[in-house]
Amino acid sequence: MPKVEELSVGQLAERSGVAVSALHFYETKGLIASRRTAGNQRRYARDTLRRVAVIRVAQRVGIPLATIREALATLPDDRTPTRADWSRLSARWRDELDARIRQLGRLRGTLDDCIGCGCLSLQRCRLANPADALGDAGDGARRWDDGEA
Ligand code: FES
Repeated sequence: MPKVEELSVGQLAERSGVAVSALHFYETKGLIASRRTAGNQRRYARDTLRRVAVIRVAQRVGIPLATIREALATLPDDRTPTRADWSRLSARWRDELDARIRQLGRLRGTLDDCIGCGCLSLQRCRLANPADALGDAGDGARRWDDGEA
C-alpha cells in the first residue's frame, strides 16, 4: 500500500482522535495549516498528526493556545520536523510547566486551608476569588470612581 503523504480532514480526525470541528478551530487559530485541492477540500501534511498530538498534550497540561501557536511557529515549514525539532519545542515549555506546578502547589495549600471551612467568601477566600487583587484594598466594589464614563 502506498504511503499517504496527505490527509483529508476526516482522515486526520480519525487518526488523531480529534473532532473535525476541533481541527477547524485549530486551523482558524493558526495551530495547523492545510492546502486546498482543486475541489476546495483541505489536505494536511502527514506531520500534522504529530502537531495535533502535541497540541492536545499541551492543552492537557494547561498551556495556553497562544503559547502553543508560538512554539509550533518555530518548527520548519520546508521539511518534516525532526525529533530534535520536537524536543526543542518541548524544552520551550519547561519554564511554563514549572510555573504551573508552583501555582498548583500554592493552590493545594489554599485548598488544604479551605477544606473544613467551606465559606467560599468573596472577601477572604483565595480559592473562591483567587485573582481579586483589588480585594486587598478592602471590601466592596472597586473602580466605580475611576473617571471612565
Ligand atoms: S472556603 Fe473559607 S477561606 Fe476558603
